Amino acid sequence: MPTRRGRPGAEEGRSWLTRGIQVDAPVLLADLPPAVPFGFLGRVLPTSEPVELRLALRKLSRSSALEVAEKAVAVAEADLETRVNSPGARPSELQHDAESARELATRVAARDQDLWRVGISFHARGRGRGKAERARSHLIHRLTELGFRPRVPTFETGLIPLPPDPTETTARPTGYWHTLATDAVAALFPFVDESVHEPGGILVGLLLEDANPIFLNRWAHGSYSWAIFGSTGSGKSFAAALWAFRTRWVSPETQVFFVDPLGEFARLTRAVGGSVIDLGPGSTERLNPLDPASTGGGRDAKAARVGTMLRALFPSLTDAEGALLDGRLSRLYRESGEAPSWSDLLASLAQRPGAERLNDLLEVFRHGSLQHLDGPTTASLDGSLLTLDLHAVPPEQLPFHLTYALDLLMTRLRADDRPKLLVVDEAHYLARHPATAEFLDQLARHVRHYRTGLLLLSQNPEDFLATPAGRSLLRNLRATVLLRLAEVSTGTRDFFQLTPAEVEWLPRTRLPGEAGYSEGLLRFGPSHLPIAIVASTPEFDWLRSFLGGGGGPGPSEAIPLERHV
Ligand SMILES: Nc1ncnc2c1ncn2[C@@H]1O[C@H](COP(=O)(O)OP(=O)(O)OP(=O)(O)O)[C@@H](O)[C@H]1O
Ligand SMILES: [Mg+2]
Repeated sequence: MPTRRGRPGAEEGRSWLTRGIQVDAPVLLADLPPAVPFGFLGRVLPTSEPVELRLALRKLSRSSALEVAEKAVAVAEADLETRVNSPGARPSELQHDAESARELATRVAARDQDLWRVGISFHARGRGRGKAERARSHLIHRLTELGFRPRVPTFETGLIPLPPDPTETTARPTGYWHTLATDAVAALFPFVDESVHEPGGILVGLLLEDANPIFLNRWAHGSYSWAIFGSTGSGKSFAAALWAFRTRWVSPETQVFFVDPLGEFARLTRAVGGSVIDLGPGSTERLNPLDPASTGGGRDAKAARVGTMLRALFPSLTDAEGALLDGRLSRLYRESGEAPSWSDLLASLAQRPGAERLNDLLEVFRHGSLQHLDGPTTASLDGSLLTLDLHAVPPEQLPFHLTYALDLLMTRLRADDRPKLLVVDEAHYLARHPATAEFLDQLARHVRHYRTGLLLLSQNPEDFLATPAGRSLLRNLRATVLLRLAEVSTGTRDFFQLTPAEVEWLPRTRLPGEAGYSEGLLRFGPSHLPIAIVASTPEFDWLRSFLGGGGGPGPSEAIPLERHV
């Protein structure tokens, strides 16, 4: 076996190093998996095994980080374009690589992530070569199982244990240096516990493994928006209300808006002195969907927005009818100085050739189930806690009502720079139609400028994965919780980079009905943490009394939630 002298006192073999009777068998990483499971370091470096991990870190300057991130996007996009049709190519993987490169570039640009040069080496040790080699082969097995591609350096082991060299002038073997984002670096740190404590954050849940608390601060990141997915009864609405009120305890100036298709948040809102606007047919109050205040007076933008809401209401609109409608809407907004009414739109369409069916459809605003919307806005969107209650709206009209309700809320979000939380329950109603999915995606990006975070609730991420806008929306969420899912599709698995164990666990997570709390996977950045969303007894008693669609008698006296702080 050829050997050569390395540092004084150390001897290098083909693929190991000795120091006296101690043998060090190093392992480098030729490739890293896209995601690592929760607690992976505990699995790679169990205390029972003589192995260690050495890290050397260098933060890239902002300009080099941006350059590296942009180069990665260019490479991934070129790969996608040139290799997608080549034999053996995996289009979904290439697509995914391009999407994650773009996501990383956005986050680096938004200063949400830094890039780091990270030197990584694992070291299996033993008294004598046999023991060290055995420990190394176990280490390699554990790394491979987690999706790493380990590499044993040959005739270059002496280069690994040299002192840290942040300027990288010392040559290191292939597989030593990696460029990683901050979140990925954090996942490699062995000496922190897995609890997350973002200062100023709210208690989101407890780690299932050891009940360590997770505090997240939505305002500390580039995107303020989160989502919760889970099948019916998995605890989405409960978690949203719990987090909304915890947010108000931490920062009482936070304004909260619930857009509520099932009318689950109305009693809760009234109980703390907030206001509720009923948007159903029998309502005595009105929001005029045509009010241009929502686009800050931008009348062309408003005309386009009305086009979107009507496409959601009448999915059968033909291209010709859509074009005619868009033309009339532009004209209406250009010509009328005020907020138009639906009667104005009908008048503008009357007698137009080709508008016969359109007129019939729009009659619903004059004599049909939407006639209560024909006229100026009378309801007030003021107040720091507001619920838009849509429980009386027929399901087929929900995408339309949700679109104009969110559009009109923009006026309110723009009004001041206090932090705001906008909860949209049953968000899948907006995900299914490409026009409304796009509207929601734009809304999520836009509201950030008004210090607003979205909290989207929906049963299945599939609905969002179906359109490019839905995918873009999901990519821009800072935190996503997957509660119990009936099944995990390959689309969901790939998009969220779920490990096989996570895919297997999600349909089996315990429901609040069984456990008294809800279980799920919290995904923020690249971290995947199995958590329990647990309410304290006063929180639970209070939420159970007031949350839900009208069922069960609530206490007659309103209890201010602040009393439980
Ligand atoms: N974290 C929790 N702790 C205790 N009870 C909970 C918790 N989450 C939910 N529950 C209870 O479980 C039931 C279902 O919860 P919730 O209504 O929030 O589910 P959901 O996911 O919103 O369902 P749907 O899709 O039907 O609206 C409710 O009775 C609620 O009180
Ligand atoms: Mg619900």
